[in-house]
Amino acid sequence: MSAFPIGVLASGTGTNFDAIAAAVGNGTLAAEIRTVICNRPDAKVLAKAQQLGIPTETIEHSNFTTREAFDGEVVKRLRDAGVTLVVMAGFDRIVTPVLLEAFPERVVNIHPALLPAFKGLDAQTQAAEYGVRIAGATVHLVDTHLDHGPIIVQAAIAVGPNDDAETVRLRILEQEHRIYPWAINLFANNTLRVEGRRVIIDDDASALPNTGDALISPPLQRTSR
Ligand code: GRF
Repeated sequence: MSAFPIGVLASGTGTNFDAIAAAVGNGTLAAEIRTVICNRPDAKVLAKAQQLGIPTETIEHSNFTTREAFDGEVVKRLRDAGVTLVVMAGFDRIVTPVLLEAFPERVVNIHPALLPAFKGLDAQTQAAEYGVRIAGATVHLVDTHLDHGPIIVQAAIAVGPNDDAETVRLRILEQEHRIYPWAINLFANNTLRVEGRRVIIDDDASALPNTGDALISPPLQRTSR
């Protein structure tokens, strides 16, 4: 059986890309990264992918007059690559129905906050400045509203008195790297279904990722035992 084909959309450093590629490499994620599409030619993620022999495409958003036109080009490249699941990993563009309708319920994102709190940019700083005692990361399906689609998994960390925006960012990032490959694997194994805002995961607890001290949201439902 051929591996589940995914496409990664990224704009920056690509540590989530690293985690996903590592999980593919060590066999814990049964997927194949067919392409990495990046909107910024100087992004570090491009060199990282190239080093692993993964095809990359640079599509500069500034060359397009509308978000829809940009998304249309992204869709074309994803289709050309034979992608089934679109994985936004530090992708700094708001996507439109052009992408979402081309891949219904098959566009995922990771956000460095416990949604629905702290949507948008610099979520970790927002959380630290707000003074929250629990922060975290969310993997969710993408819909037409920012950081809004059905939640697949969340991991939560405690924020201590000595934490600041940077330590919170790093500890959330560590959890992102654990839950994102795990969430993608649910699609690869076809053990996830969406019912309105609820994502139902058909899996057993032993399959949860190791999140160390962090609390991870359990599956909403287990049907395999
Ligand atoms: C991550 O914190 C992710 O949650 C957010 O952007 C950051 C990207 O980091 N959407 P990286 O490029 O994967 O290192």
